[in-house]
Amino acid sequence: MFDFTPDPEAPKSDLYRDLLTAADAITTGESDAVANMANVAALLGEFLHDCNWTGFYRLVNDELVLGPFAGRPACIRIPLGVGVCGAAAKSGETQLVEDVHAFPGHIACDARSRSEVVVPILRDGAVIGVIDCDSPELARFDADDQAGLEALAALLADRL
Ligand code: SME
Repeated sequence: MFDFTPDPEAPKSDLYRDLLTAADAITTGESDAVANMANVAALLGEFLHDCNWTGFYRLVNDELVLGPFAGRPACIRIPLGVGVCGAAAKSGETQLVEDVHAFPGHIACDARSRSEVVVPILRDGAVIGVIDCDSPELARFDADDQAGLEALAALLADRL
């Protein structure tokens, strides 16, 4: 099975290149969406330092429903437009939140979370779910994380 030891000193571009390579290798040829999300959620938890939650919400009947993740148990259903995840799913745009306490409507599934990035997964222009990463550090995520996670979402769109 896939084995990886992230280099904490590596530039983020290297980290996300390796993450995409790993995600591609682990999902290619596999049609089961749950298996693919589960493995990628675990990969994110391994690759991204200082994250307390990494995982997926799926858009089901116009609301977000919890998918596979690495971290503590989380909120199961999130209405479109509510919280960081709901904002990303409704707008189709990544939400990069330096301080979750300053985000109107933020949903505190895990009280340790201080910053968050949520990337929509688009298939044929429509949102099918989101990738959500939470960190206990303020401003943990930046434009490099956004670019890397958006590339991951694009890779996965046809494999979920
Ligand atoms: N904080 C998110 C909810 C999901 S958890 O972080 C896993 C939000 O505001 O949408």
